[in-house]
Amino acid sequence: MTTTAAPVITGRAAARATALSKVYGEGETRVVALDQVSVEFHRGEFTAIMGPSGSGKSTLMHCMAGLDTVSGGSTTIGDTELVGLKDKDLTRLRRDHVGFVFQAFNLLPTLTALENITLPMDIAGRKPDKEWLDRVIETVGLSGRLSHRPSQLSGGQQQRVACARALAGRPEIVFADEPTGNLDSRSGAEILAFLRNSVRELGQTVVMVTHDPVAASYADRVVFLADGRIVDELDRPTADGVLDRMRRFDAKGRTS
Ligand SMILES: Nc1ncnc2c1ncn2[C@@H]1O[C@H](COP(=O)(O)OP(=O)(O)OP(=O)(O)O)[C@@H](O)[C@H]1O
Ligand SMILES: [Mg+2]
Repeated sequence: MTTTAAPVITGRAAARATALSKVYGEGETRVVALDQVSVEFHRGEFTAIMGPSGSGKSTLMHCMAGLDTVSGGSTTIGDTELVGLKDKDLTRLRRDHVGFVFQAFNLLPTLTALENITLPMDIAGRKPDKEWLDRVIETVGLSGRLSHRPSQLSGGQQQRVACARALAGRPEIVFADEPTGNLDSRSGAEILAFLRNSVRELGQTVVMVTHDPVAASYADRVVFLADGRIVDELDRPTADGVLDRMRRFDAKGRTS
């Protein structure tokens, strides 16, 4: 039994895509979901990905997290190139170095909050780092709810369990696909504050897909996708600034 995963990060990028392409289907059903995307997610930074429905946000995340295969280009987590990795190594990389948060919380109903949080490590046969786990649980504000099952928790609390689960293994990077999409604005704000704190206070790296300019304003940087390409970036975003960029894309889309 190993207690910690070997770190794979040495440089500034926690994850990097280079000329990454993803094509679904063939012939008439062919869809270019990602068209030569090059992007870097810096260590210790909170990045938001925005763009219209169908622009490739989830595909980018899935390819960079090793959940989906790519059609061209390369993508790395830390120093590890994902393209060409054997299934076994990819599974291990995902398990030990990547955290996920989905729009649907994906908790196991028969397990308590704490059991859900430590499940990936239990499966991997890794012992949780107690001090780290305590910090994650404290940051996520779940200390009083650890023995509750998902059905006994609110939506916001369930998503906080999912966030704690993603961070429990101290991954190189956390990918969150619309983590506040199913939450009311107050619960959503709690999740966003948690994700931001996990970056600021715990030094984590978080990449989040969102449609909400307010959610994006919690990030250090926003990357905009359209038609499978990165079309813009914004540092230290405000909700108004993000909205303004989105309006510009809309106007362009209508006129071109
Ligand atoms: N498994 C698949 N098979 C075929 N086409 C797919 C598949 N998954 C995604 N696509 C297509 O790829 C494109 C990008 O999809 P993707 O899910 O990445 O968009 P998105 O930006 O996440 O959209 P949304 O905001 O609606 O979640 C879309 O045109 C979609 O129809
Ligand atoms: Mg999506």
